[in-house]
Amino acid sequence: MLSKITVVGAGNVGATTAQRLAEKELARTVVLVDVIEGVPQGKALDQYESAPIEGFDTRIIGANDYGPAAGSELVVVTAGIARKPGMSRDDLVRTNADIVKQVSQQIKQNCPKAIVVVVSNPLDVMCWVTKQVTGFSRERVIGMAGVLDTARYRAFLAEALDVSVRDIQAMVLGGHGDTMVPLVSYTTVSGIPVTQLLDKAKLDKIVDRTRNGGAEIVAFLKTGSAYYAPSSAVVQMVESIVLDQKRLLPCAAWLQGEYGLSGMYCGVPCKLGKNGLEKIIEVELTADEKSALKKSADGVTQTMAAVTL
Ligand code: APR
Repeated sequence: MLSKITVVGAGNVGATTAQRLAEKELARTVVLVDVIEGVPQGKALDQYESAPIEGFDTRIIGANDYGPAAGSELVVVTAGIARKPGMSRDDLVRTNADIVKQVSQQIKQNCPKAIVVVVSNPLDVMCWVTKQVTGFSRERVIGMAGVLDTARYRAFLAEALDVSVRDIQAMVLGGHGDTMVPLVSYTTVSGIPVTQLLDKAKLDKIVDRTRNGGAEIVAFLKTGSAYYAPSSAVVQMVESIVLDQKRLLPCAAWLQGEYGLSGMYCGVPCKLGKNGLEKIIEVELTADEKSALKKSADGVTQTMAAVTL
């Protein structure tokens, strides 16, 4: 158990993450920080009042400043705004980059030793902003996307095969967006290659649905985006770090030559333990997967160009 974890952004993803972290008692204190007056305080109090029923002793505190967050060993960044009608993708990038810059300065000042898990979108670019502004090493700035994309892929496969989700092993790599790269060649069902269980047409459909997984939820919700599965994904990463589980999870990591890519964040298989990103695992890819990863990475570089730091 850590002594303190801070979640910045008390919106749907942030608040649900705080509740899940507390229910798993991954820290003695969880601090929820947001710019909206009263919201982090109200949500934190409401969550703490569930403690006697759920049976956790984590204290949840809400704040509009970083005083209570000081000294956090881990920070989850979910602050940002959703795209509004008429707003271009580049406008959204710049707005969220400004928010994440401001949040990163506060993290640098108040939580200088923290490991940071970034969730704000566009994910790969927001990870880069966080790393640049905090000056933290790549071991301490990791992005959540692949775990969520992989969970969606595993859920769709389990549904199509009518088997337990637990028995589907898979990895989705690449940037977080419609160019993500589900690795069909490494997808197994209790060790059986999925290609022996589903024909290509069905697999292609599932890969496509995975790539559009975020949009599918937005189309239903209309005024917001997914948060139950995203918060579960963040907590799985945090748990691996806090409990030093050394799980291999697909995360956005700063690349220095791995997979032939450098100077950018992209989703790759990572080992997460008490030091944060402990290792990037390089696996062989098929020619199609390699070119899809390159295309996805090019998309990240283009989005980075819209931001001035
Ligand atoms: N500091 C702290 N919090 C901020 C700041 C800031 N500078 N700017 C905005 N916020 C807060 C907002 O007040 C809001 O409460 O971030 C919160 C975002 O919450 P939601 O709008 O509910 O968005 P959510 O669904 O939680 O998604 C958050 O995660 O998955 C990504 O794409 C998603 O970038 C988005 C982020």
